[in-house]
Amino acid sequence: MNTPIVDFVKKYADAELVRMHMPGHKGKSFLGYEGFDITEIEGADVLYSPNGIIEQSENNASKLFNTAHTYYSTQGSSLCINAMLAIIAMNKPLQKTHILAARNVHRAFVHAAALLDLDVSWVYPHNVSHICSADITADDIEKAIAESDKAIDAVYITSPDYLGQTLDIRNISDICRKHGIPLLVDNAHGAYLAFSKSNEHPINLGADMCCDSAHKTLPVLTSGAYLHISKKSAHYCKNARRALSLFASTSPSYLILQSLDLCNDYLEKHFRAQLAECIAKTDRLKEQINSCNFYVLDSERLKIVVDAKKSGYTGTQFGNLLRHSGIECEFCDDDFLVLMTSPQNNDNDYIKVYNAFSQLKPKAAIENNILPHNLPHKCALSIRQAVFSKHETADVENACGEICALPLVSCPPAVPIVISGEVITHNDIVLLKKYRIDKIEIVSKG
Ligand SMILES: Cc1ncc(COP(=O)(O)O)c(C=O)c1O
Repeated sequence: MNTPIVDFVKKYADAELVRMHMPGHKGKSFLGYEGFDITEIEGADVLYSPNGIIEQSENNASKLFNTAHTYYSTQGSSLCINAMLAIIAMNKPLQKTHILAARNVHRAFVHAAALLDLDVSWVYPHNVSHICSADITADDIEKAIAESDKAIDAVYITSPDYLGQTLDIRNISDICRKHGIPLLVDNAHGAYLAFSKSNEHPINLGADMCCDSAHKTLPVLTSGAYLHISKKSAHYCKNARRALSLFASTSPSYLILQSLDLCNDYLEKHFRAQLAECIAKTDRLKEQINSCNFYVLDSERLKIVVDAKKSGYTGTQFGNLLRHSGIECEFCDDDFLVLMTSPQNNDNDYIKVYNAFSQLKPKAAIENNILPHNLPHKCALSIRQAVFSKHETADVENACGEICALPLVSCPPAVPIVISGEVITHNDIVLLKKYRIDKIEIVSKG
């Protein structure tokens, strides 16, 4: 597969022209990459109205993901989430857009809802094992659609989530299609799924649009991402660039664009085989950790999620112990340790992780406090009203009955417990404290 962006920038860098243009480093080496860090000069195309090398490269990505079009983002899935929702809103000018969303949204969704003044109805999980996950079924979505007193403009779900849990996208998309409602998927963690044996990528399973953080599971620089529009929903392409450019910088990173461009060639030539091998090695490591009497959850293929308390540790303790063995995890908290693999991990990496676990002794399980159910909330203000309100920072302890202005949630996992505009409940406070969130922004009185 050709790599037009990489080729153009290399030729430009090799020509050693006098750079009387931005960026100010002029291609001189400070970090070492500056020679390849250019701006939208003649021939470099324009990300949000491309007709040259960027268009050619995006067409390559569209072929690989089998989409009507795959758009590049140099600002992560966060930008694509804004854009997907803006595309839906642009379909309904001058009226409020109503989204039905599974409750475990990333905070980028809340920001988009504020900026676009979306009306949001939530589908809550049955069991709360962690704020990142929501065990929502196709039946739950069907019931929520049937019970909604307002027309729903799109259904929005997150799959896989931060703990590698996946939803039944195929059946959820069938329900959405039956009701004529588009399905949007936050697939930030699943770009690689398009290349797995059974192609479990949301677009293949029936989603109308989805975002992938290429940087999370593919060899792409941080913030490289895709907005995919499915072939059956090609009509959304009309507004896609407009929607992306509403929220995007006018100075996209050409380092990230080159990284996305080069990745196409790798995906075509090598990735399928290397991914299959990586999945087999990851499965083997999961079995090995289980054989040491630690508990690995069932999850998507490139995540190893250890339920720490079952073997007498906290996830944070595991994280620290692994760090002492020269291994940095993706995420750990009281309950879980999350490790992420990719074909770029070598055999020694797997051996090191296994050795680290094999040296630990499982202990008696730590009893898990039953988490309170994250029940439907009373809304005092819209998300937009609350986010743009006068606000103050309060101790979580004293926030019961106040209106949430902006949830303060650290990244990762950045999944809010209480959403802007909602009245904070006692349950929220228990959950916020459990996740060691001790401050919250509340709407000021008067
Ligand atoms: C579920 C989920 N959605 C969206 C995002 C945002 O992705 P990005 O960092 O690529 O903007 C994240 C980031 O961690 C995420 O975990």
